[in-house]
Amino acid sequence: MAVVEQIDVRRLVGDELRARLDGLAAVLHDCVSGGASVSYMAPFSHDDARSAFEGFVADAARGGRLILAAFAGDELVGTVQVVLTTPPNQPHRGDVAKLLVLRSARRRGIAQALMAAAEREALAEGRTLLVLDTVTGDPAEFLYERLGWQKVGVIPGYALYPDGRPCDTTVFWKSL
Ligand SMILES: CC(C)(COP(=O)(O)OP(=O)(O)OC[C@H]1O[C@@H](n2cnc3c(N)ncnc32)[C@H](O)[C@@H]1OP(=O)(O)O)[C@@H](O)C(=O)NCCC(=O)NCCS
Repeated sequence: MAVVEQIDVRRLVGDELRARLDGLAAVLHDCVSGGASVSYMAPFSHDDARSAFEGFVADAARGGRLILAAFAGDELVGTVQVVLTTPPNQPHRGDVAKLLVLRSARRRGIAQALMAAAEREALAEGRTLLVLDTVTGDPAEFLYERLGWQKVGVIPGYALYPDGRPCDTTVFWKSL
């Protein structure tokens, strides 16, 4: 496992969250430009990414999700979210979403550090069961397996890559 050096991971709140909108958008834009299937289709501009994060930030301000970021110095190099909006009978559950690391910063343990922090923050919010889905066969699938997530199964043709090709999805869960 790569050693994380000089990477600071923290939950973003309030003014800092709003101030980091462009940095968060840059990571999302870079990942979609690199072909990641994370909800969006090409063409996908920085402004599109900023609009998406404006929605996430507004939801975080309402308490609907946690947004975490990883920094190398002052540069925002990665992010992950925990969605807390669950039905009344699932107050103990959260959904991990939008784990994104800049292409230039990969394989340095940043996603692993983000996931460890996301789990800690989720637990602090009383969430003891986390669920996520990811593209079958993509790097994230190896990451989640390595971090002890349990694989439920594969849903064929669940989503599309940004270029329109279909992709399968693997569903995971982890008890904290
Ligand atoms: C998936 C992603 C977040 C991984 O980020 P990262 O910071 O490079 O991951 P890490 O360095 O923390 O990797 C930790 C471990 O995960 C596994 N892993 C990560 N990337 C991998 C790859 N490309 N191939 C195989 N295993 C990989 C390895 O076990 C790795 O440990 P190692 O480097 O010691 O072998 C990044 O590739 C990304 O942003 N992809 C695009 C967006 C995306 O698909 N997000 C997932 C949405 S669910």
